[in-house]
Amino acid sequence: MVDFANRLNQIPEYVPGKSIENISEKWGIKPENIVKLASNENPLGPPQKVVEFLKSEAKNVNIYPDRIGISLLKKLEEYYSIPHNNIFIGNGSSEIVDMLCRITLNPGDSAITFKYEFALYKTCIKASDGELVEIETGEKFKRNVEKVLKEIRGNTKIIFIANPNNPTGDFINKDKMIKLIEKIPEKILIVIDEAYIEYSEEDYSLLDYFKKTIRKNLVILRTFSKIYGLAGLRVGYCFAPEKVVRALRKIKLPVNVPYLSQKGCEIALQCEDFKEKSKRLVEREKKRIFKILEKNGIEYLEGKGNFYLIKDLNAKKTVERLESKGVVVRNLLPYGIEDYFRVTVGTEKQNDIFLKNFLKEKSKSKG
Ligand SMILES: Cc1ncc(COP(=O)(O)O)c(C=O)c1O
Repeated sequence: MVDFANRLNQIPEYVPGKSIENISEKWGIKPENIVKLASNENPLGPPQKVVEFLKSEAKNVNIYPDRIGISLLKKLEEYYSIPHNNIFIGNGSSEIVDMLCRITLNPGDSAITFKYEFALYKTCIKASDGELVEIETGEKFKRNVEKVLKEIRGNTKIIFIANPNNPTGDFINKDKMIKLIEKIPEKILIVIDEAYIEYSEEDYSLLDYFKKTIRKNLVILRTFSKIYGLAGLRVGYCFAPEKVVRALRKIKLPVNVPYLSQKGCEIALQCEDFKEKSKRLVEREKKRIFKILEKNGIEYLEGKGNFYLIKDLNAKKTVERLESKGVVVRNLLPYGIEDYFRVTVGTEKQNDIFLKNFLKEKSKSKG
């Protein structure tokens, strides 16, 4: 028997949304008949321009790509007007979360996040032998950022806040966030994860603040997995002080982001129409879905981002029943949330299939 590290027992396992293959095998449903609204992916698929470009680039996969992805970094520099030495690209923003823990935490150091924050932070903190400090949230999962200051100790090294948060959709306004950031000692890294920020208003982001200030401890995390529709390419990026970028480069594997992924994302940055279309779809569909839910007396949490929560005292059972019909939504039990489940906003057709099946289940459980 292998003698594993002691910390392995302390690590909460990250439970991802079920894949189409999973569901197809479990319930004998053809993949094309499955409606997957469980992982906050973009239902419009990838931008067509990226698909075409990847086909033409496939002939080059015999070569190793540039170690730091310089060509994509320069495109990001141009797009955001942030020097490329302040940008790091990772194998999804997930990889960057893990690496940020590894560059900051010594065994036993403390890392702060909120209770219902994106679960991967907790897995990565524990995998780096950090001590997890979780802050309770208020009614409807509202986070009070002032509580963060009360939890700071001598050995606090890193703070994670997703804005908006997944799975709760809770959003902290920019002024409150800036006030918090300015009170945090510069030796503590503060990571603001903006994976879903493109679904909200442009000026909700902290990017302008990042550009204007020279804070040495602020990291802003972004991803190509959500509004860009490229979750399968696995590319995330962060804006960070140069010292942090250098530390990340020091510990990275020689090539962490594949060639086609780097190239595909360069093209994605030109697809403004696709982003706009994706954003409008979510806005329009959320309004329509919420009207239907209200009409049927169903409580929901709107949140920011391409997903919403539905209140259901039998959430576990409802999620299982829907799954057996090929409609996959997200059970929040791994978060300790029993009375809500999470639904990604799909296409109009997908949302209708979900609503039809869900409302049928509800009327059955009443009757
Ligand atoms: C808040 C948040 N951050 C980061 C990620 C990780 O995304 P990726 O690794 O695909 O970039 C997710 C994925 O669901 C997320 O919800």
